[in-house]
Amino acid sequence: MTAQRLFSWARQTLSQSGVDSPDFDAKELCAHFLGLSREELILKKEFIPPKAAQEAFQAAVAQRAEGRPLQYILGEWEFMGLSLFVGEGVLIPREDTAVLVEELHARLGEQKAPRGLDLCAGTGAVALGLCSRRPDATVLCLELSERAFSYLKKNLSAYPEYQIASRQEDVLLPPQNFEEGSLDFLASNPPYIAKDELPTLQREVQREPQMALDGGEDGLVFYRAIASLWLPLLRPGGVFAVEIGETQGDEVSQLFSKAGGKKLSVKKDWAGLPRVVSGEWPGK
Ligand SMILES: C[S@@+](CC[C@H](N)C(=O)[O-])C[C@H]1O[C@@H](n2cnc3c(N)ncnc32)[C@H](O)[C@@H]1O
Repeated sequence: MTAQRLFSWARQTLSQSGVDSPDFDAKELCAHFLGLSREELILKKEFIPPKAAQEAFQAAVAQRAEGRPLQYILGEWEFMGLSLFVGEGVLIPREDTAVLVEELHARLGEQKAPRGLDLCAGTGAVALGLCSRRPDATVLCLELSERAFSYLKKNLSAYPEYQIASRQEDVLLPPQNFEEGSLDFLASNPPYIAKDELPTLQREVQREPQMALDGGEDGLVFYRAIASLWLPLLRPGGVFAVEIGETQGDEVSQLFSKAGGKKLSVKKDWAGLPRVVSGEWPGK
């Protein structure tokens, strides 16, 4: 089959199976499995890809049609210009999470060689995104899931130029081997979906690990743990930023304020929805 026919078949198959963005997905799969960029797809319409590539492409389209996320099929996804390994067992980094990284970056200001934590690190998107802006930062990533942790390690190994370490650890338990008042910053994009909302999520999101999404009965379990267990590790004047669900701005701000956080603010994402709560630890 020609590249043009393969592409048209893919777009139609994806559209009929209810994929939201059939054109985009078909192009991404063409680029990955047939080695044809968007431009080449137009210029080389009559090109006949090798049989093995055609079969791999058709298998990938079938997987996508039955709801497997595009990013898992590709095995890699871009976040803030960094290519990250992804697959079943780890959350796909979202564009909105860049708002968390940029807010932390802004809060850190001129401070030299800041040291801090990325709690619930997943692929390592937050730590890596921050270090791409601030290569002088040192970050320790904590992640509990075995499968997510293996992606985290693989992604950190792909960027040896950054000073990022990782530990497989439960952030809902009291911190071990940390000194109070020792950190310059704390970042987290924790699970924050309320348990009863999980079954209502889009079919692709349902394929992502429950553990990456489930924020307990009210979606706030991790914020309570961060406020009570982890904020006190910040030094006076240290900064924190967490990603939130769009309805959680007030509740999370109140939790952090009660725990002692100061200069709190809520930042919006590209769609204009509340997405990040940040602040400062008192005493400076
Ligand atoms: C919403 S995902 C965020 C992943 C990544 N930080 C990002 O922004 O793409 C939350 C992550 O928290 C991890 N997690 C869930 N429960 C945890 C716990 N008790 N301790 C540490 N990590 C946990 C999940 O495995 C998942 O990787």
